[in-house]
Amino acid sequence: MPQPDARIKVRGARTHNLKGIDVAFPLGALTTVTGVSGSGKSSLVSQALVELVAAHLGHEIAAEGEDEGEALERAPSSPVGGRLATGTEGVKRLVVVDQKPIGRTPRSNLATYTGLFDHVRRLFASTKAARSRKYGAGRFSFNVAGGRCDTCAGEGFVMVELLFLPSVYTPCPTCHGTRYNAKTLEIEYRGKNVADVLGMTVDAAWEFLADEPHAHRSLGVLRDVGLGYLRLGQPATELSGGEAQRIKLATELQRSERGNSLYVRDEPTTGLHPADVGKLLTQLNGLVETGNTVVVVEHDMRVVSASDWVIDVGPGAGDEGGTVVAAGPPAEVARAHGSRTAPYLVRALAGD
Ligand SMILES: Nc1ncnc2c1ncn2[C@@H]1O[C@H](COP(=O)(O)OP(=O)(O)OP(=O)(O)O)[C@@H](O)[C@H]1O
Ligand SMILES: [Mg+2]
Ligand SMILES: [Zn+2]
Repeated sequence: MPQPDARIKVRGARTHNLKGIDVAFPLGALTTVTGVSGSGKSSLVSQALVELVAAHLGHEIAAEGEDEGEALERAPSSPVGGRLATGTEGVKRLVVVDQKPIGRTPRSNLATYTGLFDHVRRLFASTKAARSRKYGAGRFSFNVAGGRCDTCAGEGFVMVELLFLPSVYTPCPTCHGTRYNAKTLEIEYRGKNVADVLGMTVDAAWEFLADEPHAHRSLGVLRDVGLGYLRLGQPATELSGGEAQRIKLATELQRSERGNSLYVRDEPTTGLHPADVGKLLTQLNGLVETGNTVVVVEHDMRVVSASDWVIDVGPGAGDEGGTVVAAGPPAEVARAHGSRTAPYLVRALAGD
């Protein structure tokens, strides 16, 4: 656990409209960065803080859970001026969570991204029928030849070329969209084949795999962030931005025990229904309780009022912004003069 007063101190942060500012982010706490649109929140958090910490750690920014070895791609941006003063000893790892798709091909899905599918494939391989046929876990993958449907190469659909019209995709005529060949689908675990499991929702799979502690727990985390309705096999390309972000968060939460990570999220409540914001807060607090540091750019005053520390950027947009208007616990920032956030924070703290 970090020292109570330990902070990541950024000195002279300068990029876009940031005016060479000094900012301190408490370690082992949930910090929200607020301010009007264009005030410089993303410049401060997603650019200055991320780039300075990444440069300090001297390694790639962790893109947790990305499958197929994809590195986190970040848009080239204007250079960041500034340096880190202290606090970096409390940060061993930097994780940036965003709303980018969790995979760019339909071969990636909720189950493969979270690692759950490895577990499911091993379960199928461990059945008596699979062992007698010498089917290993790889047999139950739709990404490698063997168990998958040969007609569509495990895609589940085929492209039909139409004269004078754009090509269209239709369900594969051989496997009818299941992605697997008939022999593979003969293997059942508790009366379900592997395609049936991919067709289950998170809620259904959570019940189905109740006796498998690891799978049950990771499915439980997905339920906790309001994703119980998603199907395990839903292609990553068909997930909404908010869904993708929550899947990344859920995947991180399963690994968060180690602590000493800095989590940075730009507007995590985007895509979340008000009813799900409380769940998100629970998850963010969970990261903090295990010794991690969380910094989020946030407009939702319920999250801001429940955070440990607020950094209000502004006072206005563009050239009128780029400075720290107020920083402190929510109750303190709520009393700050000249802060456009303060009046809203007052109301949120009063429970409105
Ligand atoms: N790549 C860029 N190059 C130059 N200026 C930029 C760049 N990105 C943002 N800016 C400018 O810097 C200022 C701060 O932008 P920033 O994205 O940090 O705002 P923000 O507080 O995150 O706003 P929002 O709430 O709308 O996301 C804005 O005036 C913006 O136009
Ligand atoms: Mg922004
Ligand atoms: Zn097929």
